[in-house]
Amino acid sequence: MKLWGGRFTKPTNRLVEEYTASISFDQKLYEEDIRGSLAHVRMLGECGILTAEEVETISGGLRKIRERIRAGEVEFSVAHEDIHMNIEKLLIDEVGPVGGKLHTGRSRNDQVALDMHLYVRARTLDLIKGLNILREALVAKAEEHVDTILPGYTHLQRAQPVRLAHHLLAYVDMFGRDTERLFDSYKRVNTLPLGAGAISGTTFPIRRELVAEELGFERMYDNSMDAVSDRDYLVEFLGAASLIMVHLSRLSEELILWSSQEFGYIELDDAFCTGSSMMPQKKNPDVPELIRGKTGRVTGHWVALITTLKALPLTYNKDMQEDKEGIFDTVDTLQGALALTAPMVAGMRVNKERMRQSAEQGFANATDLADYLVTRGLPFREAHEVVGRLVLSCLEQGRLLRDLTLEEFREACPLIGDDVHAKLEVEQVADARKAGSGTARNRVMEMIVKKREELDETLHRLDNVLY
Ligand code: ARG
Repeated sequence: MKLWGGRFTKPTNRLVEEYTASISFDQKLYEEDIRGSLAHVRMLGECGILTAEEVETISGGLRKIRERIRAGEVEFSVAHEDIHMNIEKLLIDEVGPVGGKLHTGRSRNDQVALDMHLYVRARTLDLIKGLNILREALVAKAEEHVDTILPGYTHLQRAQPVRLAHHLLAYVDMFGRDTERLFDSYKRVNTLPLGAGAISGTTFPIRRELVAEELGFERMYDNSMDAVSDRDYLVEFLGAASLIMVHLSRLSEELILWSSQEFGYIELDDAFCTGSSMMPQKKNPDVPELIRGKTGRVTGHWVALITTLKALPLTYNKDMQEDKEGIFDTVDTLQGALALTAPMVAGMRVNKERMRQSAEQGFANATDLADYLVTRGLPFREAHEVVGRLVLSCLEQGRLLRDLTLEEFREACPLIGDDVHAKLEVEQVADARKAGSGTARNRVMEMIVKKREELDETLHRLDNVLY
């Protein structure tokens, strides 16, 4: 017999039962579901809707069921559809008909919304912590490599020399924006939907502020119809998660490229690589490859949910049950990727010599020669032309700009003085970039201090969240 079976004359078709049930995946929400029910039933007692004794019995039953689920002793049943009905059925079996009073003034529509808000709220904070650990690993690596110079790339062509620290700190800022995005969506996640009932509120004199207070919600929905049909906070979470994965995939791609024999910039720790079943010499960067690969499924979950929501009429529709698996998978995928990326970055060995050679060899100082000519009075466009011709002739002769003699330089442009060679050394080139949040040593050192402050501030904000 279904808990809602009163108006039915036939049992549910078995295929329908299986098709509509969500228990196979939403059992993941049992902690949130019971926590929400405990707060609800307590509020019902405080409002005089249930007696103290009823509250006691129901709460005791819920706690007992929670222990049994935690111990793996409960078998959920497809006949009871989802986690909400399964727990209610277990409760009635446990404490008798009084268990049926738990659902007073509540619907599964506001209940499932509450569960998802609780679930995503906790995971949002976990992710912020995970991001902070990764940012910390990147800052620490940056600190080790303030004086490691490599070519910065545009179009994957050597562009200008940069400090490795500067390159790594770019990721710190990307993950910093991700952190901000999560803190921002947290406000909307931390909004209480319970009390909305099925759609239009409840006839019982409930006080949902008591539930909000007990569960640490900073706000409540103003509109009951919005409360049960809103999934925006999940779309926002998936959007933020997708960007985090995209950022991780970009970092992963660089680790993969840099650890190839062609680049030879880094070596990943053996503990983070795997071998080939056939080729004995292989050491494959499977972890960053998989992170790169898993980005697709997370962005896929984002597109899936926003597509599910498109054109849905108010309010709750069964379509919304489709919100869960993508969210759960996103959380697992992201936590795994963050947990691996931090130690992978910390453990990578950097071949400074190789990076430096590349920075010296790729004409990455050509802009500096042009800028030098500008300081000597030549318009930038003309300087660009002069240096372009010098690069071409060097390429033909297999030489570098710094190999040219002063005479050869002067032949190309008489404005060039004997201080030119010093301007072309990679450190000099990097340090000349003091402006425009550039890669000069002092700027990079300042950034390391600033990023450490930002990391502390994030921890401070995490300490101060209500729940
Ligand atoms: N299993 C449902 C879900 O995940 C719970 C809400 C069901 N509400 C309803 N009116 N059928 O969305």
